[in-house]
Amino acid sequence: MGERGSLVGRDREMAAVGAALDRLASARRRPGFDWMEIRGEPGIGKSRLIGELTELADARGHLVLRGHGAELEQDIPFNALVDALDDYLGAVAPARR
Ligand SMILES: Nc1ncnc2c1ncn2[C@@H]1O[C@H](COP(=O)(O)OP(=O)(O)OP(=O)(O)O)[C@@H](O)[C@H]1O
Ligand SMILES: [Mg+2]
Repeated sequence: MGERGSLVGRDREMAAVGAALDRLASARRRPGFDWMEIRGEPGIGKSRLIGELTELADARGHLVLRGHGAELEQDIPFNALVDALDDYLGAVAPARR
């Protein structure tokens, strides 16, 4: 990670992130699907929050994959999901997929 100041004023958001990761831990025994929506004005700190989430998830031993969707690709179904899986699955041996 590059130069980054300390995280300010995100106690509530980080509590929600922690709770989501707790749910994920229990989902390992009871598979399910969970999601969070992070939205806000330009520059408000969405990417930073995702970065914090990523570090926490990684520290807890989760596999973290990131996918991006561009506005031009918005008509392609599951595009961001495919983007997230592409490089990872490409690097996994066929027998393990
Ligand atoms: N809670 C915070 N405390 C301190 N610095 C922060 C916080 N949130 C964001 N920043 C800093 O502010 C800058 C802008 O944040 P960020 O890039 O995450 O915004 P964004 O919402 O993703 O912007 P965009 O809409 O352009 O994608 C970054 O340098 C980031 O590290
Ligand atoms: Mg951003």
